[in-house]
Amino acid sequence: MRLEKFVDPLPIPPTIQPRSIRSGIPFYIVRMKPVYQHLHRDLHKTLVWGYEGFYPGPTFEVWENQTIDVCWQNELPSHHFLPVDTTIHGAEKNVPQVRTVVHLHGGRTPPDSDGHPDAWFTRDFAMTGPRFQRKVYRYPNIQRPTTLWYHDHALGITRLNNYAGLSGFYLIRGAEEEKFLLPKGPYEIPLLIQDRSFKPDGSLFYPCKPPRANVKVPCPSIVNEFIGETNVVNGKVWPHCDVEPRKYRFRILNGSNARFYNLKLSAGLHWIQIGSDGGLLEAPVSVSSLLLAPAERADVIVDFSACKGEIITVTNDAPAPFPAGEPANPFTVGMVLQFRVHLPLNHSDSPPLPTFFGSLKLPNPKAATYRRRLTLDESKDRFGRMKMLLNGRTWSAPATETPKLGATEIWEVLNLSAKSHPIHLHLIQFRLLDRRPFDVESFMKTRRLFYNGPPRMPDPNERGWKDTVRSHPNEVTRFVACFSPFTGDYVWHCHILEHEDHEMMRPLVVVP
Ligand code: C2O
Ligand code: CU
Repeated sequence: MRLEKFVDPLPIPPTIQPRSIRSGIPFYIVRMKPVYQHLHRDLHKTLVWGYEGFYPGPTFEVWENQTIDVCWQNELPSHHFLPVDTTIHGAEKNVPQVRTVVHLHGGRTPPDSDGHPDAWFTRDFAMTGPRFQRKVYRYPNIQRPTTLWYHDHALGITRLNNYAGLSGFYLIRGAEEEKFLLPKGPYEIPLLIQDRSFKPDGSLFYPCKPPRANVKVPCPSIVNEFIGETNVVNGKVWPHCDVEPRKYRFRILNGSNARFYNLKLSAGLHWIQIGSDGGLLEAPVSVSSLLLAPAERADVIVDFSACKGEIITVTNDAPAPFPAGEPANPFTVGMVLQFRVHLPLNHSDSPPLPTFFGSLKLPNPKAATYRRRLTLDESKDRFGRMKMLLNGRTWSAPATETPKLGATEIWEVLNLSAKSHPIHLHLIQFRLLDRRPFDVESFMKTRRLFYNGPPRMPDPNERGWKDTVRSHPNEVTRFVACFSPFTGDYVWHCHILEHEDHEMMRPLVVVP
């Protein structure tokens, strides 16, 4: 289906307000509801699931160290409108089909509010999963100001619940950051980028069978990766955004199931990246392309001041799957959105960006007391479908990643597969150390590691706090993390949602 590009204005999700203040703690209620929404001028309304009935959900704006309480409520029907594969862990026929649980991605959250995949609940909390603990989640926001993402995390159907629309922004602000006078108000815009496919009647299309399956697979069956035909930003297909000739701040989130984006601006404009997953970098970094795997965020400034009257297109040239899949069609998924510098300058521009924000207290690899070597493996499930594993283990095997509270650890992730995987840990932000090519074949034979090149430093825009890192094929990706301030049950996983739902997720237990 051909949809005209850049005909709809970019929607900006509303900010959510607390219902009340309970002993000094703002209390929010967020209901998940089905809703028919216009995703493109020429499409019939599309059934989506939205937090508070919006896709994307409303944006939280909170202050550093201000605790908030959120009651996430499920008001969804009991049947899913997307194809549920009952052969996937947690989605078997004997569990309720529609389960939800909310994870605040990148949040330093106590374990009972972290949205463990088994802490799911159904409509009105009628049924709850084995690890369900509380109806009201508490977020202490004890972390640097940054861009977080709340999204569904229910075991076995995370890919479907996210695809249905259960996603939203969660911004943490702080006094230190306010001092830099970054663009704000109408000049600070969150951009949730996702790929989606549609049926001719306007409904969301999600495949129920792997393409070219040469094996007998169940129906519906999980696919290796969902790769969509259109780009949707803040819930509109290929939108446009009218801007003034000045600086803007964009909080970009790749919220796709599996698609990587390599974003570029036309007219030779650069992104000035100021923040990564875990807040401001030490200094702004100018980049011509912005590579974002699913779940990665980039906090960027774009300066349109020299572009009065121009049209600036955001393009994408990342192959899908990444890095060796189909090249992005420049006429479809190769385009993302369009900025039109057509508005008159309303206020004066914000002041020039500082050249330095401040040193980061990133963990020191020399302080590490433990080193883990972990593999990303390609294997097959009992139906012959591709299945990715972490360290050769499935989700239900006993926990092996059990760092001690306060311990600093180095994780070496050896990617033995042919694809890049965004690796995400709950609870903590970490520091990427380097990536180094190694001989995969000899590792598979001997389990011994032979490097065949020097280590590569992280990209300049990765040298800040991260919670999701791209692990590329034939490379050892190393990062260092300190596990605090909570003990308890968390998870770590690949953030390609089809992989996560199909065994590429493991417990992460922080022990006293
Ligand atoms: Cu964004 Cu465990 O997830
Ligand atoms: Cu993966």
